[in-house]
Amino acid sequence: MSIKVILITGASSGIGEATARRLAADGHQVVLGARRIDRLKALAEELIAAGGAAEFQELDVTDLESFRAFTAGAHDRHGRIDVLVNNAGVMPLSTLDALRVEDWNQMIDVNLRGTLHGIASVLPIMRAQGYGHIVNVASTSAYRVDPTAAVYCATKFAVRAVSEGLRQENTDVRVTVVSPGFTRSELTDRGGDPDVRAAVQAASDELAIPASAVADAIGYAIAQPANVDVSELIVRPTAQR
Ligand SMILES: NC(=O)c1ccc[n+]([C@@H]2O[C@H](COP(=O)([O-])OP(=O)(O)OC[C@H]3O[C@@H](n4cnc5c(N)ncnc54)[C@H](OP(=O)(O)O)[C@@H]3O)[C@@H](O)[C@H]2O)c1
Repeated sequence: MSIKVILITGASSGIGEATARRLAADGHQVVLGARRIDRLKALAEELIAAGGAAEFQELDVTDLESFRAFTAGAHDRHGRIDVLVNNAGVMPLSTLDALRVEDWNQMIDVNLRGTLHGIASVLPIMRAQGYGHIVNVASTSAYRVDPTAAVYCATKFAVRAVSEGLRQENTDVRVTVVSPGFTRSELTDRGGDPDVRAAVQAASDELAIPASAVADAIGYAIAQPANVDVSELIVRPTAQR
């Protein structure tokens, strides 16, 4: 298998961290991005100590210049970018009538605008290379809407829509949407209505699959030959309705 230069956003915890572990173990060069650089540094050191190739750079996906600098740094160091995993996300849930407008804007900024910033940063590079792969992490909430999750679902439906448009417009760049169900991570640790958060945490504690299960799906899509586009994968607990 060829070694790829793979950028992963939201690599400081949960699915991003598990994806970094899986792809580094597969022998790839991983470039870790997130805001908590202490976490990224510790993870990169651990992966390198285990024989992997890892580096990190501070990244705020809501800031286009930050994303461009993250991408340009990796491109300068390695001369190419094979894969971007657009994974960073937040999920502060509440009913719409709670009017938590700041939470709505944060979900739009991180989940949707962040994904678009990633596309804007790597697409010119991948088009010039004549190859590349963008993996967007959506959710089962990209396929169904539930109370308290209207805005979160809207961002994830939008990520699917953008991904499908991106796929149709490009014949040499692969596009994959990976949509997890309940997965163990820090996603429900912060933000939103406290009662809703407690309820989602309880459901997650009962059902959640390990983040490595989603990482394995991402690894599978990346490992396919250049002319095989794994367009959409849904990975959820067997017991999740
Ligand atoms: N866990 C689930 O059940 C589940 C289900 C469906 C979909 N997902 C999706 O999976 C993805 C990963 O989430 P997770 O479950 O692994 O949760 P997590 O453990 O909370 O990880 C979220 C990651 O996003 C990063 N992030 C948040 N805001 C950011 C920003 N402005 N700039 C850069 N990075 C930012 C965080 O890093 P910093 O805070 O260090 O910046 C963190 O590394 C998300 O897109 C989420 O919507 C998760």
